[in-house]
Amino acid sequence: MENKKRIMSGMRPTGKLHLGHYFGVLKNWVDLQEKYESYFFIADWHALTTKYNQTDDLKENVKNVLLDWLASGINPDKSTVYLQSFVPETAMLHIYLSMITPQNWVERDPTLKDLAKIMKDKQENMSNLSYGLFGYPVLMTADILTFNTHFVPVGIDQVAHVELSRDIARRFNNIYKADYFIEPQPLLTKIPLMKGLDGNKMGKSFNNDIKISDSEEITEKKIKTGITDRNRIRKDDKGNPENCEVIFEYWKIFGSEDDINEVCQGCKNATMGCAECKKRLAQKVNEVLRPIREKRSQFENNDKLIKEIIYDGSAKARIKAKEVLDGAIDVIKMYK
Ligand code: TRP
Ligand code: SF4
Repeated sequence: MENKKRIMSGMRPTGKLHLGHYFGVLKNWVDLQEKYESYFFIADWHALTTKYNQTDDLKENVKNVLLDWLASGINPDKSTVYLQSFVPETAMLHIYLSMITPQNWVERDPTLKDLAKIMKDKQENMSNLSYGLFGYPVLMTADILTFNTHFVPVGIDQVAHVELSRDIARRFNNIYKADYFIEPQPLLTKIPLMKGLDGNKMGKSFNNDIKISDSEEITEKKIKTGITDRNRIRKDDKGNPENCEVIFEYWKIFGSEDDINEVCQGCKNATMGCAECKKRLAQKVNEVLRPIREKRSQFENNDKLIKEIIYDGSAKARIKAKEVLDGAIDVIKMYK
């Protein structure tokens, strides 16, 4: 245990997760937890950077994210699963890191620029962007450095943030002339983004997603709306799976080689219509998700267990976090 390298990663509590999260992130975490000392956290402070005035669903969202993690196979006996706001050491580290981070490093952050733009478009008023939002990349650095983490498994959209955390770790070491923080490296998943049912990136706000927790009926209904080969209008038109934007892509994710060949033949020869193809796909998707959904429903009705997992995980996270923070405070030469 002691000699394992550490990884950490997190998600904002946005509510129920979809298959893009599952295939793009969670499956990877589940594999990684076997090999690394792993910390996975729900970033509730990060949620407040933009949604400080929309907190009514926050508790429920935290719970739903955790349920989806557990259902997907994140194992609290193997990984430390915690809630960001339960580990105050991260906030303390954030204070120290914020002092040494040049303002223009934060302003350069591309994701922050995008976020600022979205907020600006929505609210037409830059003054609604909070101080905390501008500190977002530094807070994320604090998350990562809280455990003196070696690797951060994230999607490509987060790499700029991890780069910044490397810069801040290096700057800390230079300023205080100590080889203290490890420069964390992103651990990229090779899995391509999962398309939504309309062919765009799968996302909650685009209304094109399939949730891990959707019922089998809803899943089938949603799959019926999926984009197919746009040139195949009637059932006796021959189709081309290569031009089938979404449904065939899903087959490649969910089907066996035999399934995929069969679909290919049926499509090209027009012996299988798109409706039939989608119906079969829905069965397949539901089959794959069934054990995950069953696991979810077991935890769902056990609020006590969910609470226990969050409290125990956070207490465990604090042990390592305190050790790292105390070391940093020493290195800075604070009064003690
Ligand atoms: N910024 C990440 C997101 O929006 C969430 C996050 C916060 C995170 N802190 C992190 C991810 C630290 C990895 C490591 O998805
Ligand atoms: Fe796509 Fe299936 Fe229709 Fe072919 S039959 S176009 S693979 S949905």
